[in-house]
Amino acid sequence: MYNAFFGFTQNPFNMSPDPSFLFRSSQHEEALANLIYGVQSRKGFVVLSGEVGTGKTTMLECLRDFLHSQQIAFASLFNSRLTVEQFFELLAYDFELQCNRHSKTEVLLTLNNMLLERAGVGRTTVLIVDEAHNLEWDVLEEIRLLGNLENRRGKLLQIILAGQQELERKMEAPEFRQLKQRIALRCTLRGFETNDAIAYINSRMAKAGVQNQTVFSVTLMDEIRLRTQGIPRLINAVCDNLLLNCFAQETRTATTKMLDEVSADMRLDFTRPLQIAPNFPETLIQQSRVRFQGD
Ligand SMILES: Nc1ncnc2c1ncn2[C@@H]1O[C@H](COP(=O)(O)OP(=O)(O)OP(=O)(O)O)[C@@H](O)[C@H]1O
Ligand SMILES: [Mg+2]
Repeated sequence: MYNAFFGFTQNPFNMSPDPSFLFRSSQHEEALANLIYGVQSRKGFVVLSGEVGTGKTTMLECLRDFLHSQQIAFASLFNSRLTVEQFFELLAYDFELQCNRHSKTEVLLTLNNMLLERAGVGRTTVLIVDEAHNLEWDVLEEIRLLGNLENRRGKLLQIILAGQQELERKMEAPEFRQLKQRIALRCTLRGFETNDAIAYINSRMAKAGVQNQTVFSVTLMDEIRLRTQGIPRLINAVCDNLLLNCFAQETRTATTKMLDEVSADMRLDFTRPLQIAPNFPETLIQQSRVRFQGD
């Protein structure tokens, strides 16, 4: 809608987990390096956790690009609300197993043979599960058992589990002690700190065709980070709305007033400490936290 007005070649703040917009913050760089290292070194289980909208699926997309480029076979499950039967059916479908996909026993046997064959010629095979926090216990247990398959040289199937923080909590349960112990690598994504948030916004604007953008001032970007807690998806939504506002008002500079309106529309809920003199009483500091709650 506003692309021509600002001179964008594409929408800078679209919501899809598109690797071509990847901003390599140190935490995302580290997460991707962990995923790739985990796969390459046949570590078995790797867990990627993080708050909603912090970039987990984007990291998995980058990993898939890497696996494609290395011709490493993988299955990826993006809908984790599955029964055990559906899980094995999808696995068979993704790995193109030639067997009765409705029979768990057949799928397991065929999968095992395929994994042994591939491992025998030095090939790696990967299972990626996104939204793993939604997995039912029995499916998670099947995944744990798949992670047990090994030959003398290591695990036959490299398993990446990505999900919200709840996944970490789920694995604290006594039934999952064994799975927890098997996790070779884990990494967590968080919201951006100010410098990264600013670099992130600038990077998306540049990738959309506007270098050295002046729509968002540094002060405004700092405020955007505060109100979104640096969560990339929220930053995208806020910036997209700000661009729309600018377009509607025919200006190429976003303002704090616009940000206030957008925050209210989006019901952004954030707390921030006021700037307070050093010996101000603690109780008053607590009371004076501004709570911004939309309308
Ligand atoms: N490092 C990054 N570079 C560029 N864009 C990013 C980055 N991290 C996140 N994003 C963007 O933020 C949005 C949310 O990312 P993504 O869908 O990967 O988050 P998620 O952690 O999988 O969220 P959920 O918990 O809801 O599954 C997407 O638009 C994505 O492109
Ligand atoms: Mg996701």
